[in-house]
Amino acid sequence: MSRNAVVTGGTRGIGAAIARQLQAAGNAVAVVYHGNDAAAEAFRKDCGIPVYKWNVADFASCESGVAAVQRDLGGPIDVLVNNAGITRDVVLHKMTAEQWREVIDTDLTSCFNMCRVLVPSMRERSFGRIINVASINGQKGQFGQANYAAAKAGMLGFTKALALESAAKGITVNAVAPGYIGTDMVAAVPKDSMARILAQIPVGRLGQPEEIARIVAFLASDAAGFITGSTLSANGGQYMI
Ligand code: CAA
Repeated sequence: MSRNAVVTGGTRGIGAAIARQLQAAGNAVAVVYHGNDAAAEAFRKDCGIPVYKWNVADFASCESGVAAVQRDLGGPIDVLVNNAGITRDVVLHKMTAEQWREVIDTDLTSCFNMCRVLVPSMRERSFGRIINVASINGQKGQFGQANYAAAKAGMLGFTKALALESAAKGITVNAVAPGYIGTDMVAAVPKDSMARILAQIPVGRLGQPEEIARIVAFLASDAAGFITGSTLSANGGQYMI
């Protein structure tokens, strides 16, 4: 069944793979991005998925952005994938308040913003699929990521609370916790840190964005109606929870 879906941070990396997978499953998809115009244009040209530019950390931008998406797609959004995220890796004793805030606002507050805008209409229509892309580092912690680990762990609690509130209204809310996936974000990790991390992944390789996208597409499908409040880990065995 074709549904309207929106993916934040959807023009690169895991988000782009999710958008393509949802499109392949027959959904009408729109993606949100904030920074990289060239990557967004290349993505749009390649797959035809419309791209929207706004800052998901800002509530008013989410309100106006969602209204534009719904106008263009011709109906309400049924599937929300909160995937947008940034890192500002630095040890806590050197972390600035700005580096803390940027990550919390972009990675966690964005989930509140998008859900707060979309959940009322999902409740009215008694259907919704919300998938939050968290991280292994929100489950286990990571040296240099007090901000990111806090935001991603926050997403897991947020997922469970919203799942409880939404269960009787036909809305499922789940999280995916990817491990280290071959994206620009992971490519930016310093070489020696990366060697240390790779040695901790039992399958001996990074994951691929498509390996996360397939999970998200399943959770977004009608087949996953009994799954809510769960966290699905996909990390090559690096952390078993
Ligand atoms: N565990 C224990 N000690 C560590 C460590 C670790 N994981 N990483 C670094 N250290 C130690 C170093 O050995 C070093 O010790 P010595 O001074 O005694 O030699 C000390 O900490 C300082 O290390 P650095 O020289 O690397 O310090 P830095 O200030 O230049 O950088 C850092 C620190 C920013 C945390 C850097 O190590 C880094 O970027 N690490 C990678 C963090 C990471 O994994 N980020 C994930 C990004 S991808 C992502 O987030 C996607 C996802 O969801 C999985």
